[in-house]
Amino acid sequence: MLNVLLLTGSPRPYGCSSSLAEVALEGMREAADIQVERVDAARLENKYRGCSSCYGCQPAKFRCMIHDATARLINRISDFQYIVLATPIYFFNISGQLKACTDRFMALCSYDDQGKVISPLQKIRLAAVVTSEGDAETSGLEVVELWLKWLSDFTGTAPIPILHKGNCCRDAGPAVREEELREKALAFGRSLIQ
Ligand SMILES: Cc1cc2nc3c(=O)[nH]c(=O)nc-3n(C[C@H](O)[C@H](O)[C@H](O)COP(=O)(O)O)c2cc1C
Repeated sequence: MLNVLLLTGSPRPYGCSSSLAEVALEGMREAADIQVERVDAARLENKYRGCSSCYGCQPAKFRCMIHDATARLINRISDFQYIVLATPIYFFNISGQLKACTDRFMALCSYDDQGKVISPLQKIRLAAVVTSEGDAETSGLEVVELWLKWLSDFTGTAPIPILHKGNCCRDAGPAVREEELREKALAFGRSLIQ
């Protein structure tokens, strides 16, 4: 059984990004026995709306010392073999809600004696499902791609595959209704299982 964390970044729980991510999870389920835990960053208690910069995590090694639900999630991140990030593009980047949560990944980074970053994230496969109103050229997708690249390069995870769908407005329907998109999302999900 593979444990998958679906970490969503939209304030709309049934919006485009999470609907598309749910289809990708169906694809993962076709390829493997998975157990999914969904956490909506927009509703997760996050005391300082991000990292408090207390640096308490550094001596604590991979433990966030803030007393809130985000820390409780971060502190059991090694329970998961996969993390699927789902986010709308907000002002040419991931949503602030997701960023406030992933800033807390700071607690998951430390340095070895040679100054190399070590992180429990290295044992976890990450993937991202991204939706936007604009298309690949006009939405700010390249900022999101670059952010994900820095995230994987810095923490030492494998490159993070991205499923993007543009031209998504307020109707989340296409993610579940459009057959071509559904097939693409299912194939994306299946491809994550290795
Ligand atoms: C505050 C805000 C900022 C947005 N900024 C962008 C943007 O920079 N580029 C873009 O293509 N779409 C932008 N959009 C549109 C959303 O990315 C798009 O509708 C997305 O599919 C919504 O996903 P959701 O239903 O999961 O929330 C923005 C929407 C909102 C509400």
